[in-house]
Amino acid sequence: MPKQTFILNGKPVTVDVHDDVRVLWVLRDLLGVTGPKYGCGINVCKACTSHINGKAFNPCSVRVGDLGRTDKVTTIEGLPATVGAKGRDLHPMQEAWLELDVAQCGYCQPGQIMAAVALVKKVRREGREISEKDLDSIRNICRCGTYVRIREAIEKGARAMR
Ligand code: FES
Ligand code: FES
Repeated sequence: MPKQTFILNGKPVTVDVHDDVRVLWVLRDLLGVTGPKYGCGINVCKACTSHINGKAFNPCSVRVGDLGRTDKVTTIEGLPATVGAKGRDLHPMQEAWLELDVAQCGYCQPGQIMAAVALVKKVRREGREISEKDLDSIRNICRCGTYVRIREAIEKGARAMR
């Protein structure tokens, strides 16, 4: 089987797996990284949202063979380290989530947080602050209906991401 190498949460990883296996299954089943959740498997629910090279992507829809050795995949497990937080410290967006008690069952929440961080970074690159329209653009499904708290937490987390 081919060897696939990419950077996962700051460290190079190599796995023996066919090119056409989707990254979500490589993360969850072969590497034991279970923050990205399996909801639909077809790029609709966004439960698996993670980052590739700092931008949001849905690993259920990307073949592992399409990742290069230098591609950086970040999951919720690696998010705190992106702001230099060590050990039990959390990313500011995770802190905002806890302060507003956003999660209900929790299943969609890693994907929601990863989508939120990517969105804040995107609007900052564009030289803007986050708007209601930006918040409307998030497509991550929450079956528990926590959308109002998610929106409040993104605004709070964005203020802390300075
Ligand atoms: S599991 Fe990836 S988008 Fe639904
Ligand atoms: S908190 Fe249950 S699916 Fe979102």
